[in-house]
Amino acid sequence: MSTMDPSEKKIIGITGAVLALFIFSILYARGRNNELPACLPYNKTYLEPKVIRLDQQTYQVYAVAQMWQFQPNQINIPAGSEVDFFLTSKDLVHGFNIAQKNVNMMAVYGNINKTTVKFEKPGIYKITCHEYCGVGHQSMQAEVIVTETPVR
Ligand code: CUA
Repeated sequence: MSTMDPSEKKIIGITGAVLALFIFSILYARGRNNELPACLPYNKTYLEPKVIRLDQQTYQVYAVAQMWQFQPNQINIPAGSEVDFFLTSKDLVHGFNIAQKNVNMMAVYGNINKTTVKFEKPGIYKITCHEYCGVGHQSMQAEVIVTETPVR
């Protein structure tokens, strides 16, 4: 018959508590982030950068990343707009970060990532590449310009 050392019991208890906290955090995060970027089937038409206006406050942006720029690099929309971003890359892996909006995506060749963002407040929202991609990495930026009045 083996008896357990008190310190062993203590460690098992702590491990169990940490594990429970870990599982709880995952479930909690899952409940809160149901707007995670989605992967879509690849289609070459996504390589053509464009902004499509569906109505006054609904837009689609086909964003293309390449060394070392984003296209389109300026997106003008009115406040209150909801934007679907479809993101791909022409070469290697780039980042697509809109810090003010908690957008954190990867631009991957042969792949399209999608997320939807609502821009309630006017302002300039910087899009930056946050995945090191070579000498021009730090200059890889674009912006979303959100204006007060509706764009006509
Ligand atoms: Cu593109 Cu860093």
